[in-house]
Amino acid sequence: MRISIKKAVNLLTNGSVVAVPTETVYGLAAAVNQPDAIEKIFSLKGRPSNNPLIIHLADYSHILEFITSQPSGFEALAKTFWPGPLTLVLPIKTDKIPSQIRAGLPTAAFRVPQHPLTLELLSQTGPLVMPSANLSGKPSATCPEHVEEDFGSEFPVIDGGSCPLGLESTILYYLNGHWQIVRAGSLPAEIFTSVLGYQPLIAEALEKPVCPGQLYRHYAPRAKLHLANTFDSTCQGPIIGFRDRKYPIGVRVLIAGSLTDPSEIAANLYQLLRQLDQEKIENVWVDMDFPKTGLWETIKERYKKAAS
Ligand code: TXA
Ligand code: MG
Repeated sequence: MRISIKKAVNLLTNGSVVAVPTETVYGLAAAVNQPDAIEKIFSLKGRPSNNPLIIHLADYSHILEFITSQPSGFEALAKTFWPGPLTLVLPIKTDKIPSQIRAGLPTAAFRVPQHPLTLELLSQTGPLVMPSANLSGKPSATCPEHVEEDFGSEFPVIDGGSCPLGLESTILYYLNGHWQIVRAGSLPAEIFTSVLGYQPLIAEALEKPVCPGQLYRHYAPRAKLHLANTFDSTCQGPIIGFRDRKYPIGVRVLIAGSLTDPSEIAANLYQLLRQLDQEKIENVWVDMDFPKTGLWETIKERYKKAAS
């Protein structure tokens, strides 16, 4: 059910859950001071309670009242990338943020989103927790139809059309004197170099992931994804591929976008993965022969997760 911002403010302040567009993906929102609504987010999504939520705010200055220290580079990151698709995990005063939100951790994740509708909403409601608006494990939602697919046509959603970026925020975590990427996202690793003086590493290799969400199966359609670099006669298709590349004749190609524009692939990716389920496709081959830099790294990570 499509609702206005005014209605959403009313529902959220009265302890309901509402789906909200952001520049990355749709979020399932609850007010930080509504424990029953937050509980409902976990049960609606089927999300384990040990997977913490991101706190979204209209203005980063509010974060200062929650945190115990500002890691080196915090202010520069905040000023450069907020509002925007960046999430920072910071050490917090545990009495200021309910344990339910941060899954008992001594840290919390914060983001100032860029979407005008999200910012308008946040300016009226105050801080909101917002995981992606999908059933746990499934591809994230990038338009109101995806939210309705997962939660039903009566579920309240603010209609912001399609999300412009299409992939989640990049999550940075400060560890041993450096920021590390604990979830690849819409901002590529290279973009942080000019601000931090170094390129944060992607912390896939950490023994114990610091980002609990990384432990779970994610972004996955029912179809089996076969990640491939070349296509021969064993590939029956369909292939998720590029409009500017040739594939074996007679095999259906689902176009993700152009090899020259990863942002187009990012914006289409979850729609494509959801289309596989809508069409009840059981096997799909993914063309993984693309560059190894920038946003392509996030696209690669999402395909790998979707295939695992
Ligand atoms: O783009 C986004 O970030 C979207 C939109 C709606 O803002 N939100 C989103 O939320 O992707 P979610 O819940 O789907 O993913 C949040 C990730 C999870 O992997 C979670 O484990 C991690 O953030 N996270 C949250 N709090 C954390 C903390 N204190 N320490 C480490 N990781 C944390
Ligand atoms: Mg998610």
